Amino acid sequence: MRKLTNIVITGGAGFIGSNLIRYIFEKTDFSGKIINLDVLTYAGNPYSLDDIDKKFGGSQYFFEKADIRDRKAVDAILVKYDVDTIIHLAAESHVDRSITGPEEFITTNINGTFNLLEAAKNYWKDFEGKLFHHVSTDEVYGSLGDEGFFTEDTPYDPRSPYSAAKASSDHLVMAYFHTYGMPITMSNCSNNYGPYQFPEKLIPVMIENMLTEKALPVYGDGKNIRDWLYVEDHNSAVWTIVNNGKTGRTYNIGGENEWENIKLVNSLCEIVAKETGKELNYYKKLITFVKDRPGHDRRYAIDCSRIKKELDWKQTYSFDSGLSETVKWYLTERSWIENVKSGEYLKWMEENYSER
Ligand code: NAD
Ligand code: TYD
Repeated sequence: MRKLTNIVITGGAGFIGSNLIRYIFEKTDFSGKIINLDVLTYAGNPYSLDDIDKKFGGSQYFFEKADIRDRKAVDAILVKYDVDTIIHLAAESHVDRSITGPEEFITTNINGTFNLLEAAKNYWKDFEGKLFHHVSTDEVYGSLGDEGFFTEDTPYDPRSPYSAAKASSDHLVMAYFHTYGMPITMSNCSNNYGPYQFPEKLIPVMIENMLTEKALPVYGDGKNIRDWLYVEDHNSAVWTIVNNGKTGRTYNIGGENEWENIKLVNSLCEIVAKETGKELNYYKKLITFVKDRPGHDRRYAIDCSRIKKELDWKQTYSFDSGLSETVKWYLTERSWIENVKSGEYLKWMEENYSER
Protein backbone atom coordinates (compact mmCIF):
# COMPACT_ATOMS: atom_id res chain seq x y z
CA MET A 1 0.00 0.00 0.00
CA ARG A 2 1.38 3.41 -0.99
CA LYS A 3 1.88 6.20 1.50
CA LEU A 4 -0.21 9.08 0.17
CA THR A 5 0.11 12.40 1.96
CA ASN A 6 -0.75 15.49 -0.08
CA ILE A 7 -3.08 14.69 -2.96
CA VAL A 8 -4.09 17.10 -5.71
CA ILE A 9 -7.40 16.10 -7.29
CA THR A 10 -7.95 17.99 -10.53
CA GLY A 11 -11.57 18.53 -11.54
CA GLY A 12 -12.64 17.99 -7.93
CA ALA A 13 -15.64 20.29 -8.33
CA GLY A 14 -17.12 18.16 -11.11
CA PHE A 15 -19.37 15.12 -10.88
CA ILE A 16 -16.89 12.29 -10.30
CA GLY A 17 -14.26 14.47 -8.62
CA SER A 18 -16.62 15.85 -5.97
CA ASN A 19 -17.92 12.34 -5.26
CA LEU A 20 -14.31 11.11 -5.02
CA ILE A 21 -13.39 13.76 -2.45
CA ARG A 22 -16.53 12.96 -0.46
CA TYR A 23 -15.72 9.23 -0.71
CA ILE A 24 -12.17 9.70 0.58
CA PHE A 25 -13.28 11.79 3.57
CA GLU A 26 -16.34 9.73 4.46
CA LYS A 27 -15.40 6.16 3.57
CA THR A 28 -11.62 5.80 3.97
CA ASP A 29 -9.15 6.41 6.79
CA PHE A 30 -7.01 8.82 4.75
CA SER A 31 -5.46 11.35 7.12
CA GLY A 32 -3.50 13.58 4.73
CA LYS A 33 -4.49 16.63 2.70
CA ILE A 34 -6.64 16.90 -0.38
CA ILE A 35 -6.24 19.88 -2.68
CA ASN A 36 -9.10 20.35 -5.11
CA LEU A 37 -7.64 22.05 -8.20
CA ASP A 38 -10.46 23.20 -10.46
CA VAL A 39 -11.04 26.18 -12.74
CA LEU A 40 -14.84 25.95 -12.29
CA THR A 41 -16.17 25.70 -15.82
CA TYR A 42 -19.94 25.42 -16.29
CA ALA A 43 -19.58 21.81 -14.99
CA GLY A 44 -17.66 22.65 -11.84
CA ASN A 45 -19.62 23.50 -8.76
CA PRO A 46 -17.92 23.99 -5.39
CA TYR A 47 -21.38 23.98 -3.83
CA SER A 48 -21.28 20.17 -4.20
CA LEU A 49 -18.62 20.07 -1.48
CA ASP A 50 -19.97 22.77 0.81
CA ASP A 51 -20.39 20.35 3.75
CA ILE A 52 -16.93 18.83 3.24
CA ASP A 53 -15.44 22.32 3.13
CA LYS A 54 -17.19 23.26 6.39
CA LYS A 55 -15.90 20.10 8.10
CA PHE A 56 -12.39 19.71 6.71
CA GLY A 57 -11.62 23.08 5.05
CA GLY A 58 -8.27 24.56 6.13
CA SER A 59 -7.10 21.40 7.88
CA GLN A 60 -7.43 18.52 5.43
CA TYR A 61 -9.34 20.02 2.50
CA PHE A 62 -8.19 22.93 0.32
CA PHE A 63 -9.72 24.45 -2.80
CA GLU A 64 -7.52 26.10 -5.44
CA LYS A 65 -9.23 27.79 -8.37
CA ALA A 66 -6.75 27.18 -11.19
CA ASP A 67 -6.62 26.13 -14.82
CA ILE A 68 -4.62 22.98 -15.59
CA ARG A 69 -3.44 24.78 -18.74
CA ASP A 70 -1.79 27.47 -16.60
CA ARG A 71 1.72 26.20 -15.87
CA LYS A 72 2.62 28.89 -13.36
CA ALA A 73 -0.53 28.28 -11.34
CA VAL A 74 0.00 24.50 -11.33
CA ASP A 75 3.69 24.85 -10.37
CA ALA A 76 2.78 27.11 -7.45
CA ILE A 77 0.18 24.64 -6.12
CA LEU A 78 2.60 21.68 -6.27
CA VAL A 79 5.14 23.68 -4.25
CA LYS A 80 2.64 25.20 -1.82
CA TYR A 81 1.29 21.83 -0.69
CA ASP A 82 4.38 19.67 -1.29
CA VAL A 83 2.23 17.40 -3.45
CA ASP A 84 3.18 13.70 -3.76
CA THR A 85 0.08 12.40 -5.58
CA ILE A 86 -2.03 13.74 -8.42
CA ILE A 87 -5.37 12.21 -9.32
CA HIS A 88 -6.25 13.81 -12.64
CA LEU A 89 -9.93 14.12 -13.53
CA ALA A 90 -10.20 17.68 -14.91
CA ALA A 91 -11.52 17.54 -18.44
CA GLU A 92 -14.22 18.66 -20.78
CA SER A 93 -16.40 15.61 -20.51
CA HIS A 94 -19.56 15.84 -22.61
CA VAL A 95 -19.61 14.23 -26.08
CA ASP A 96 -22.40 16.51 -27.43
CA ARG A 97 -20.43 19.62 -26.50
CA SER A 98 -17.32 18.17 -28.14
CA ILE A 99 -19.30 17.94 -31.39
CA THR A 100 -20.48 21.56 -31.34
CA GLY A 101 -17.29 23.04 -29.85
CA PRO A 102 -14.24 20.76 -29.90
CA GLU A 103 -11.57 23.36 -29.17
CA GLU A 104 -11.83 23.39 -25.38
CA PHE A 105 -11.57 19.59 -25.47
CA ILE A 106 -8.22 19.83 -27.22
CA THR A 107 -6.80 22.56 -25.00
CA THR A 108 -8.00 21.16 -21.66
CA ASN A 109 -7.89 17.40 -22.21
CA ILE A 110 -4.67 17.28 -24.23
CA ASN A 111 -2.67 20.45 -23.52
CA GLY A 112 -3.87 20.59 -19.91
CA THR A 113 -2.79 16.99 -19.26
CA PHE A 114 0.58 17.67 -20.91
CA ASN A 115 1.00 20.75 -18.73
CA LEU A 116 0.26 18.78 -15.55
CA LEU A 117 2.68 16.02 -16.55
CA GLU A 118 5.43 18.56 -17.21
CA ALA A 119 4.77 20.37 -13.94
CA ALA A 120 4.84 17.08 -12.00
CA LYS A 121 8.01 15.89 -13.76
CA ASN A 122 9.73 19.14 -12.99
CA TYR A 123 8.63 19.31 -9.35
CA TRP A 124 9.07 15.65 -8.43
CA LYS A 125 12.47 15.08 -10.03
CA ASP A 126 13.40 11.60 -8.67
CA PHE A 127 9.79 10.28 -8.51
CA GLU A 128 10.40 8.42 -5.22
CA GLY A 129 7.07 8.02 -3.37
CA LYS A 130 5.13 9.89 -6.08
CA LEU A 131 2.13 8.93 -8.21
CA PHE A 132 0.21 10.43 -11.13
CA HIS A 133 -3.13 8.67 -11.61
CA HIS A 134 -4.99 9.47 -14.82
CA VAL A 135 -8.76 8.99 -14.90
CA SER A 136 -9.96 8.11 -18.38
CA THR A 137 -12.84 6.58 -20.24
CA ASP A 138 -13.76 3.40 -22.10
CA GLU A 139 -14.75 5.62 -25.05
CA VAL A 140 -11.10 5.63 -26.20
CA TYR A 141 -11.65 2.05 -27.42
CA GLY A 142 -14.33 3.08 -29.93
CA SER A 143 -17.58 1.25 -30.57
CA LEU A 144 -18.50 -2.43 -30.16
CA GLY A 145 -20.91 -4.52 -32.22
CA ASP A 146 -23.32 -6.96 -30.58
CA GLU A 147 -20.55 -9.15 -29.20
CA GLY A 148 -17.34 -8.70 -27.22
CA PHE A 149 -15.90 -6.46 -24.50
CA PHE A 150 -13.19 -3.83 -24.18
CA THR A 151 -10.10 -5.19 -22.44
CA GLU A 152 -6.96 -3.24 -21.54
CA ASP A 153 -5.43 -4.62 -24.76
CA THR A 154 -8.18 -3.43 -27.10
CA PRO A 155 -6.61 -1.04 -29.65
CA TYR A 156 -7.60 2.60 -29.28
CA ASP A 157 -10.17 3.75 -31.85
CA PRO A 158 -11.80 6.97 -30.59
CA ARG A 159 -14.68 8.41 -32.66
CA SER A 160 -15.69 11.74 -31.08
CA PRO A 161 -13.58 14.84 -30.39
CA TYR A 162 -14.10 14.03 -26.69
CA SER A 163 -12.80 10.48 -26.89
CA ALA A 164 -10.02 11.44 -29.33
CA ALA A 165 -8.80 14.09 -26.88
CA LYS A 166 -9.00 11.64 -23.95
CA ALA A 167 -7.14 9.01 -26.00
CA SER A 168 -4.43 11.53 -26.73
CA SER A 169 -4.08 12.36 -23.04
CA ASP A 170 -3.86 8.62 -22.20
CA HIS A 171 -0.99 8.24 -24.68
CA LEU A 172 0.83 11.21 -23.18
CA VAL A 173 0.50 9.77 -19.66
CA MET A 174 1.82 6.39 -20.81
CA ALA A 175 4.65 8.12 -22.69
CA TYR A 176 5.77 9.85 -19.47
CA PHE A 177 5.99 6.42 -17.82
CA HIS A 178 8.04 4.85 -20.62
CA THR A 179 10.18 7.85 -21.46
CA TYR A 180 10.84 9.51 -18.10
CA GLY A 181 9.97 6.71 -15.69
CA MET A 182 7.20 8.79 -14.11
CA PRO A 183 5.15 6.57 -11.74
CA ILE A 184 1.72 6.60 -13.33
CA THR A 185 -1.40 4.48 -13.10
CA MET A 186 -4.42 4.82 -15.35
CA SER A 187 -8.06 3.78 -15.35
CA ASN A 188 -10.59 3.60 -18.18
CA CYS A 189 -14.12 3.52 -16.87
CA SER A 190 -17.58 3.03 -18.34
CA ASN A 191 -20.54 5.44 -17.95
CA ASN A 192 -21.01 6.73 -14.42
CA TYR A 193 -24.24 7.84 -12.78
CA GLY A 194 -25.17 9.12 -9.32
CA PRO A 195 -25.62 12.31 -7.29
CA TYR A 196 -24.11 15.66 -8.39
CA GLN A 197 -24.03 14.76 -12.09
CA PHE A 198 -24.53 17.81 -14.25
CA PRO A 199 -27.93 17.65 -16.00
CA GLU A 200 -26.60 17.24 -19.54
CA LYS A 201 -25.76 13.51 -19.39
CA LEU A 202 -28.44 10.90 -20.06
CA ILE A 203 -29.60 9.94 -16.55
CA PRO A 204 -29.86 13.40 -14.92
CA VAL A 205 -31.34 14.89 -18.13
CA MET A 206 -34.10 12.28 -18.03
CA ILE A 207 -34.79 12.69 -14.31
CA GLU A 208 -34.82 16.50 -14.52
CA ASN A 209 -37.04 16.55 -17.59
CA MET A 210 -39.50 14.17 -15.91
CA LEU A 211 -39.64 16.38 -12.84
CA THR A 212 -40.23 19.50 -14.95
CA GLU A 213 -42.55 17.76 -17.44
CA LYS A 214 -40.36 18.24 -20.50
CA ALA A 215 -39.74 15.90 -23.45
CA LEU A 216 -37.33 13.01 -22.77
CA PRO A 217 -35.02 13.17 -25.82
CA VAL A 218 -33.87 9.69 -26.88
CA TYR A 219 -31.26 9.84 -29.66
CA GLY A 220 -31.77 7.77 -32.83
CA ASP A 221 -33.50 4.42 -32.32
CA GLY A 222 -32.68 4.32 -28.59
CA LYS A 223 -30.86 1.02 -28.98
CA ASN A 224 -27.34 2.24 -28.25
CA ILE A 225 -25.89 0.40 -25.30
CA ARG A 226 -23.88 1.71 -22.35
CA ASP A 227 -22.38 -0.12 -19.36
CA TRP A 228 -23.49 1.80 -16.25
CA LEU A 229 -21.58 2.07 -12.97
CA TYR A 230 -22.57 3.88 -9.78
CA VAL A 231 -20.09 6.72 -9.20
CA GLU A 232 -19.11 5.49 -5.73
CA ASP A 233 -18.06 2.14 -7.22
CA HIS A 234 -15.90 3.99 -9.76
CA ASN A 235 -14.31 5.99 -6.96
CA SER A 236 -13.63 2.93 -4.80
CA ALA A 237 -11.83 1.48 -7.84
CA VAL A 238 -9.77 4.65 -8.35
CA TRP A 239 -8.87 4.67 -4.65
CA THR A 240 -7.87 0.99 -4.84
CA ILE A 241 -5.60 1.66 -7.84
CA VAL A 242 -4.05 4.75 -6.30
CA ASN A 243 -3.21 2.76 -3.17
CA ASN A 244 -2.28 -0.61 -4.65
CA GLY A 245 -2.11 -0.43 -8.45
CA LYS A 246 1.04 -1.33 -10.31
CA THR A 247 2.82 1.63 -11.92
CA GLY A 248 2.70 1.77 -15.70
CA ARG A 249 -0.51 -0.28 -15.64
CA THR A 250 -3.99 0.50 -16.96
CA TYR A 251 -7.12 -0.86 -15.29
CA ASN A 252 -10.54 -1.05 -16.93
CA ILE A 253 -13.45 -0.30 -14.59
CA GLY A 254 -17.03 -1.17 -15.45
CA GLY A 255 -20.43 -2.06 -14.12
CA GLU A 256 -20.93 -5.32 -16.03
CA ASN A 257 -24.31 -3.74 -16.46
CA GLU A 258 -25.30 -3.14 -20.08
CA TRP A 259 -28.49 -1.30 -20.92
CA GLU A 260 -30.11 -0.12 -24.13
CA ASN A 261 -30.87 3.59 -23.70
CA ILE A 262 -34.60 3.18 -24.30
CA LYS A 263 -34.90 0.38 -21.73
CA LEU A 264 -33.03 2.48 -19.22
CA VAL A 265 -35.31 5.49 -19.84
CA ASN A 266 -38.37 3.26 -19.35
CA SER A 267 -36.94 1.99 -16.07
CA LEU A 268 -36.28 5.53 -14.91
CA CYS A 269 -39.90 6.42 -15.68
CA GLU A 270 -40.98 3.54 -13.41
CA ILE A 271 -38.70 4.59 -10.55
CA VAL A 272 -39.68 8.27 -10.77
CA ALA A 273 -43.39 7.33 -10.95
CA LYS A 274 -43.00 5.19 -7.82
CA GLU A 275 -41.17 7.94 -5.95
CA THR A 276 -43.55 10.77 -6.93
CA GLY A 277 -46.78 8.73 -6.82
CA LYS A 278 -47.78 9.87 -10.34
CA GLU A 279 -49.12 7.59 -13.10
CA LEU A 280 -46.41 5.78 -15.07
CA ASN A 281 -47.92 7.05 -18.33
CA TYR A 282 -47.54 10.67 -17.19
CA TYR A 283 -43.77 10.15 -17.66
CA LYS A 284 -43.75 7.60 -20.49
CA LYS A 285 -45.70 9.92 -22.77
CA LEU A 286 -42.81 12.39 -22.53
CA ILE A 287 -40.41 9.98 -24.32
CA THR A 288 -39.48 11.57 -27.68
CA PHE A 289 -37.17 10.06 -30.28
CA VAL A 290 -34.93 12.82 -31.68
CA LYS A 291 -32.24 13.12 -34.37
CA ASP A 292 -29.27 10.86 -33.67
CA ARG A 293 -25.94 12.18 -32.36
CA PRO A 294 -23.38 12.31 -35.22
CA GLY A 295 -20.85 9.46 -34.92
CA HIS A 296 -22.92 7.93 -32.11
CA ASP A 297 -21.01 4.91 -30.72
CA ARG A 298 -23.31 1.88 -30.73
CA ARG A 299 -22.18 -0.16 -27.79
CA TYR A 300 -19.72 0.06 -24.90
CA ALA A 301 -19.04 -2.92 -22.63
CA ILE A 302 -16.12 -3.34 -20.26
CA ASP A 303 -14.19 -6.43 -19.26
CA CYS A 304 -12.97 -5.45 -15.79
CA SER A 305 -11.51 -8.81 -14.80
CA ARG A 306 -7.99 -7.33 -14.37
CA ILE A 307 -8.87 -4.99 -11.50
CA LYS A 308 -11.08 -7.67 -9.94
CA LYS A 309 -8.37 -10.33 -10.02
CA GLU A 310 -5.28 -8.25 -9.38
CA LEU A 311 -6.62 -5.68 -6.91
CA ASP A 312 -9.63 -7.48 -5.46
CA TRP A 313 -12.08 -4.70 -6.39
CA LYS A 314 -15.76 -5.26 -7.05
CA GLN A 315 -18.93 -3.24 -7.61
CA THR A 316 -21.13 -2.93 -4.53
CA TYR A 317 -24.27 -1.24 -5.93
CA SER A 318 -26.87 -3.06 -7.98
CA PHE A 319 -28.41 -0.96 -10.78
CA ASP A 320 -31.74 -0.98 -8.90
CA SER A 321 -30.25 0.38 -5.69
CA GLY A 322 -27.96 2.88 -7.48
CA LEU A 323 -30.77 4.25 -9.64
CA SER A 324 -33.21 4.65 -6.77
CA GLU A 325 -30.53 6.40 -4.68
CA THR A 326 -29.91 8.72 -7.62
CA VAL A 327 -33.58 9.48 -8.28
CA LYS A 328 -34.18 10.17 -4.55
CA TRP A 329 -31.17 12.49 -4.51
CA TYR A 330 -32.42 14.52 -7.50
CA LEU A 331 -35.87 14.70 -5.91
CA THR A 332 -34.58 16.07 -2.61
CA GLU A 333 -31.56 18.19 -3.57
CA ARG A 334 -33.48 20.84 -5.47
CA SER A 335 -31.20 23.66 -4.33
CA TRP A 336 -28.21 21.97 -6.01
CA ILE A 337 -30.11 21.74 -9.26
CA GLU A 338 -31.31 25.35 -9.10
CA ASN A 339 -27.74 26.39 -8.41
CA VAL A 340 -26.25 24.63 -11.44
CA LYS A 341 -29.12 25.63 -13.66
CA SER A 342 -28.58 29.31 -12.99
CA GLY A 343 -25.13 29.23 -14.61
CA GLU A 344 -23.82 29.37 -18.14
CA TYR A 345 -25.39 25.97 -18.72
CA LEU A 346 -28.80 27.55 -19.38
CA LYS A 347 -27.47 29.77 -22.15
CA TRP A 348 -25.72 26.83 -23.80
CA MET A 349 -28.82 24.65 -23.56
CA GLU A 350 -30.85 27.39 -25.25
CA GLU A 351 -28.34 27.68 -28.10
CA ASN A 352 -27.86 23.95 -28.66
CA TYR A 353 -31.02 22.22 -27.54
CA SER A 354 -33.71 24.72 -28.49
CA GLU A 355 -35.11 22.51 -31.26
CA ARG A 356 -35.82 19.65 -28.86
P1 NAD B 1 -17.40 16.92 -15.20
O1 NAD B 1 -17.59 17.60 -16.51
O2 NAD B 1 -18.57 16.76 -14.30
O3 NAD B 1 -16.27 17.69 -14.35
C1 NAD B 1 -15.10 18.16 -14.92
C2 NAD B 1 -14.43 19.10 -13.93
O4 NAD B 1 -13.19 19.55 -14.49
C3 NAD B 1 -15.26 20.36 -13.63
O5 NAD B 1 -15.28 20.61 -12.25
C4 NAD B 1 -14.51 21.47 -14.38
O6 NAD B 1 -14.64 22.74 -13.77
C5 NAD B 1 -13.08 20.95 -14.33
N1 NAD B 1 -12.25 21.49 -15.42
C6 NAD B 1 -12.55 21.51 -16.75
N2 NAD B 1 -11.58 22.12 -17.44
C7 NAD B 1 -10.63 22.46 -16.53
C8 NAD B 1 -9.37 23.12 -16.62
N3 NAD B 1 -8.90 23.56 -17.81
N4 NAD B 1 -8.65 23.32 -15.50
C9 NAD B 1 -9.11 22.90 -14.30
N5 NAD B 1 -10.31 22.29 -14.14
C10 NAD B 1 -11.05 22.08 -15.25
O7 NAD B 1 -16.73 15.53 -15.55
P2 NAD B 1 -16.89 14.11 -14.85
O8 NAD B 1 -18.05 13.41 -15.43
O9 NAD B 1 -16.79 14.30 -13.38
O10 NAD B 1 -15.57 13.38 -15.39
C11 NAD B 1 -14.34 13.49 -14.68
C12 NAD B 1 -13.28 12.70 -15.42
O11 NAD B 1 -13.68 11.33 -15.53
C13 NAD B 1 -13.03 13.18 -16.86
O12 NAD B 1 -11.64 13.12 -17.10
C14 NAD B 1 -13.77 12.17 -17.72
O13 NAD B 1 -13.16 12.02 -18.98
C15 NAD B 1 -13.63 10.90 -16.88
N6 NAD B 1 -14.72 9.91 -17.05
C16 NAD B 1 -16.02 10.27 -16.92
C17 NAD B 1 -17.02 9.30 -17.04
C18 NAD B 1 -18.47 9.68 -16.87
O14 NAD B 1 -19.34 8.81 -17.08
N7 NAD B 1 -18.81 10.88 -16.46
C19 NAD B 1 -16.69 7.98 -17.32
C20 NAD B 1 -15.33 7.63 -17.45
C21 NAD B 1 -14.34 8.61 -17.30
P1 TYD C 1 -24.16 10.48 -22.30
O1 TYD C 1 -24.75 10.51 -20.94
O2 TYD C 1 -23.98 11.78 -23.02
O3 TYD C 1 -22.78 9.68 -22.19
P2 TYD C 1 -21.80 9.15 -23.37
O4 TYD C 1 -22.16 9.78 -24.65
O5 TYD C 1 -20.47 9.63 -22.87
O6 TYD C 1 -21.94 7.66 -23.35
O7 TYD C 1 -25.06 9.55 -23.22
C1 TYD C 1 -25.33 8.21 -22.86
C2 TYD C 1 -26.17 7.60 -23.97
O8 TYD C 1 -27.45 8.23 -23.99
C3 TYD C 1 -25.59 7.82 -25.36
O9 TYD C 1 -25.88 6.66 -26.15
C4 TYD C 1 -26.34 9.02 -25.89
C5 TYD C 1 -27.71 8.88 -25.25
N1 TYD C 1 -28.44 10.14 -24.93
C6 TYD C 1 -29.76 10.29 -25.33
O10 TYD C 1 -30.35 9.41 -25.98
N2 TYD C 1 -30.41 11.44 -24.98
C7 TYD C 1 -29.81 12.44 -24.27
O11 TYD C 1 -30.45 13.48 -23.99
C8 TYD C 1 -28.44 12.26 -23.87
C9 TYD C 1 -27.73 13.34 -23.10
C10 TYD C 1 -27.80 11.08 -24.23
